[in-house]
Amino acid sequence: MNALFDDAGDDRTRWERLCQQLHHHAHCYYVLDAPEIPDAEYDRLFQALQALEATHPDWVTPDSPTQRVGGRVLDGFGTVRHRVPMLSIRTETDTEASGAQAFDERVRKELELTPSDPPVGYVAEPKFDGLAMSLRYEAGVLVQAATRGDGELGEDVSANIRTIGQVPLRLPSDRRPVPPVLEVRGEVYMRRDDFEALNERQRQRIAAGAKGEKTFVNPRNAAAGAVRQLDSAIAAERPLSFFAYGLGEVSPPADGGPTFATHHESLMALRDWGFPVSSEVALCQGVDELIAYHRRLGAERDRLPFDIDGVVYKVDRLDWQRALGFVTREPRWAVAHKYPAQEQMTTVLAIDVQVGRTGKLTPVAKLAPVFVGGVTVTNATLHNEDEVLRKDVRVGDTVIVRRAGDVIPEVVAVVPPAPVAGDAQPTAEGPQADLFAAPARGPLFGMPSACPVCGSAVVREAGEADHRCTGGLFCSAQRKQALLHYAQRRAMDIEGLGDKLVEQMVDGDIVRGLPDLYRLGLSALARLDRMADKSAANLLAALEASKHTTLPRFLFALGIRHVGEATARELARHFGGLDKLMDATPEQLLEVRDIGPVVADSVHTFFQQAHNREVVEQLRACGVHWEEGAGTSDAPQVLAGQTLVLTGTLPHLSRDQAKALIEAAGGKVSGSVSKKTHHVVAGAEAGSKLDKARELGVSVIDEAGLLALLSSPPAADGADTPG
Ligand code: IVH
Repeated sequence: MNALFDDAGDDRTRWERLCQQLHHHAHCYYVLDAPEIPDAEYDRLFQALQALEATHPDWVTPDSPTQRVGGRVLDGFGTVRHRVPMLSIRTETDTEASGAQAFDERVRKELELTPSDPPVGYVAEPKFDGLAMSLRYEAGVLVQAATRGDGELGEDVSANIRTIGQVPLRLPSDRRPVPPVLEVRGEVYMRRDDFEALNERQRQRIAAGAKGEKTFVNPRNAAAGAVRQLDSAIAAERPLSFFAYGLGEVSPPADGGPTFATHHESLMALRDWGFPVSSEVALCQGVDELIAYHRRLGAERDRLPFDIDGVVYKVDRLDWQRALGFVTREPRWAVAHKYPAQEQMTTVLAIDVQVGRTGKLTPVAKLAPVFVGGVTVTNATLHNEDEVLRKDVRVGDTVIVRRAGDVIPEVVAVVPPAPVAGDAQPTAEGPQADLFAAPARGPLFGMPSACPVCGSAVVREAGEADHRCTGGLFCSAQRKQALLHYAQRRAMDIEGLGDKLVEQMVDGDIVRGLPDLYRLGLSALARLDRMADKSAANLLAALEASKHTTLPRFLFALGIRHVGEATARELARHFGGLDKLMDATPEQLLEVRDIGPVVADSVHTFFQQAHNREVVEQLRACGVHWEEGAGTSDAPQVLAGQTLVLTGTLPHLSRDQAKALIEAAGGKVSGSVSKKTHHVVAGAEAGSKLDKARELGVSVIDEAGLLALLSSPPAADGADTPG
């Protein structure tokens, strides 16, 4: 495999060729997400270039691929005057419809369009939550990267920006000519997964005793910190990304510059020059399509790999942009339409400790109510003791709370108290001084040594972050959670058995374990609060109906640690029956697809315990049953090993339903399209994922196509054919 690694020619020719190859492969890898060569081959090319440059240090240019690793340490950043000012955008925070409508009305009025004129063409883009950046290319080579600063004067952060893989150091001119001067505007940001990985690394460094390291509050802050690093080698370790969204100074057509009629055309040119342009960018005709775009991206917001805080609408025609011009520092041709903020500040009123189904103790901050991510939040998880201590959250603190999508709200960080007025001057002692003193903080948090619910000992196993109550089903909190887990729709589906009822049943000692549910009679139920005869009868009917189930559902319902729905399905498929599974050795369990040592051990331990076997026997004795035999999974595994992506609105199935069907057939549902995607299931108003699928040549099907797939005969891998 030496085809790429061509040793021919003199050193200078080899240097040229290596640079060119590395520029090309960096673009494939970082921008197109479609590497053409293995990483190891890239590394070999890179090392060959490094070796050549070591022999010829005078050849090292700022656009050499070796410069991406950083190295220079600066005293400070130079100042850059933006030849075309970097403007800000007017923000609409209004509702979906009125925000877009107000903008469209202003644009139409300014352009003196009448109602009989056709809808205005717009480009709608995500509003990336990062930092604005200006990239200046001369003769196709990156010569300068500058922050926005105050819009007139920014800071020269070239050394750090060169370390970003997605920023081309040299522009290819094979797809379209590169103008002599090209200033690209865009956003430097950090992907969410990169942010999580960075913070994890930082935590490990801190744990290992590294000085001066810290974790970051959110991707935006982490990106801002990296861009303003004086040591570019450190910046190089921070995983930054880039999206281009516009142009600054460009040589005029007379001097070889391009002529664009629309903003969208310029974005397509940016893509040809090797810049990442978001696949979420869309052309919209008129206000209705803007509203639909805002709604669609809002719904997909949490599935995007990066944070956005809204969308940006831009008039597409550049002659119209020029006609509309600016008011103060904001263009009249663009507007940002925000989504509800996902982070807000509030006060910690108390820190409680909750006990979960498996005994896990979770510290929870009780908060002064705050509206965040579209709902009022009063509780936020603090995950575990280490997290509380790391963030040093205490009662009385002002904190940042984050709620993204359906994820449980969490406390991100403590806001340091603002410097108090008069702090700087020495003040006389006395009551006056107390008025300005910072409010007292609560004590340092510590996990209780006894379970707050049942009083059993709390333990933290070596190497584990979690504390656990050792009370097992003796602990009423664990019993309640175990019952709720058993009853949930995806498990035994006992409609009407919600937390209020379970609370009463456990606290009133009517139900001690799972089998007791099936021993409930009308009279016992009638004694419960707010339980009318009708609802009691309904609950009994639901309990009766739940007895006929499937093995995967039953296994999931038992609440074995680490056994989710997918694992339960695999276990059922592999063993075919419960008795074989209960007697399986850890080695036999390891033979099950997708099951590793931790899960194998957990399943084995569960069924080795006499009381768990007893519960299973009692449930069977109460009439709980399912069909056994090979292939007892809910559905034939026709999609085993396949990855599908859902986009747009399907005519009949909800997204959850479609996902459940795919997973029941052994398939996986992913949030983003790649070459590895098997099918994209597209419904109405499908957006960028559909474009991406077409771009990559991935199969696109509709709802009917999905249903046809699901009902096709299973691939003959033996596992699903009854023996
Ligand atoms: S266009 C004249 N497009 O929003 C318009 N800006 O106030 C210039 N931003 O900090 C900006 N995503 O970095 C534009 N798709 C997008 C954007 C975007 C994020 C940021 C920009 C600046 C702020 C504008």
